[in-house]
Amino acid sequence: MKLMDAMRAKARSDIKKIVFPEGDEPRTVEAAKILKNEGLAEPILLTPDMIAANTERYTSELYELRKTKGLSLDGAASLVSRPMYYGMMMVKLGDADGLVSGAVHSTGDMLRPALQIIKTSPGMKLVSSAFLMESPDQSVGENGLLILADCVVNPCPNAEELANIAVAAANTARNTCGIEKPRVALLSFSTKGSASHEMVSKVTEATEIARKIAPADVLIDGELQLDAAIVPEVAALKAPGSPIAGRANVLVFPDLQSGNIGYKIMQRLSGASGFAVLQGLAMPCNDLSRGCSVEDIVNTAILTAVQSQRG
Ligand code: ACO
Repeated sequence: MKLMDAMRAKARSDIKKIVFPEGDEPRTVEAAKILKNEGLAEPILLTPDMIAANTERYTSELYELRKTKGLSLDGAASLVSRPMYYGMMMVKLGDADGLVSGAVHSTGDMLRPALQIIKTSPGMKLVSSAFLMESPDQSVGENGLLILADCVVNPCPNAEELANIAVAAANTARNTCGIEKPRVALLSFSTKGSASHEMVSKVTEATEIARKIAPADVLIDGELQLDAAIVPEVAALKAPGSPIAGRANVLVFPDLQSGNIGYKIMQRLSGASGFAVLQGLAMPCNDLSRGCSVEDIVNTAILTAVQSQRG
């Protein structure tokens, strides 16, 4: 992937500490060796011994963070003895710059502690995800690169949440992928009023909110069907005057069903490949698929390291 070549160079320029809660999982151990040997990151593989040796500080900090949510000191100690929570506390307290997990754990098992402990970055109202997909067709997106959101986290975002996802995806496009001019399409089954339905109205409203809260130089349009978002000739017919004019490089799906199905269709039927990153978290933590390869873990760690360079 061209994107990963650029990311490798970035990761090497400022090496970050990445913690792996699944520290004895064989693919993770292999990936950590590659990251270390190639100077891409400083991997920290969590082991039961490491966790047992140092839980006191993390327990009291976790207790302070979650006591208003009903967490007791004993409860905090029990959570910190789990690698996922221990790893999150390392990131929270600055003992690691980012976290990568999911070769064994489910998405929900990794997301919940991230949401509870790391929380959102200043100015962000929610955490979501972006798939960084490279298409073999260089004419779409940004020379084949498309940012798809949200395909992992929020099942049913309302208009305001959808607008936040759109803005976070534009930030990911710019800050993580180096796309100077994000062109964001909020997708629907309708283009500019061709159909009327409450699901369409949500996307139209989200587009208006996103335009208000996004940086002024981010181009945003909606509601658009996929063809009007990525094919200039169709945009000219269906959405004349669209600021993105069929050249979207960021695609925002109206809900998780369409986002998750959409990225998998692109991956399976068009030969595109890509990686998901979480966006909107105060510090980077990223999830793997349980079917991941060693290379997937290395690449996700590199992306996590690059995200953490933004501070
Ligand atoms: N952004 C920020 N905070 C959030 C978000 C969000 N999107 N969602 C929940 N939270 C916070 C809540 O406010 C709460 O905080 P608090 O405890 O401090 O009050 C905490 O996270 C837990 O919230 P719950 O609502 O109790 O969490 P829930 O059990 O609903 O789990 C989760 C949240 C895990 C994100 C859930 O929405 C989920 O399972 N999403 C889908 C994940 C998935 O299966 N994705 C598809 C497969 S992945 C793939 O294909 C690559």
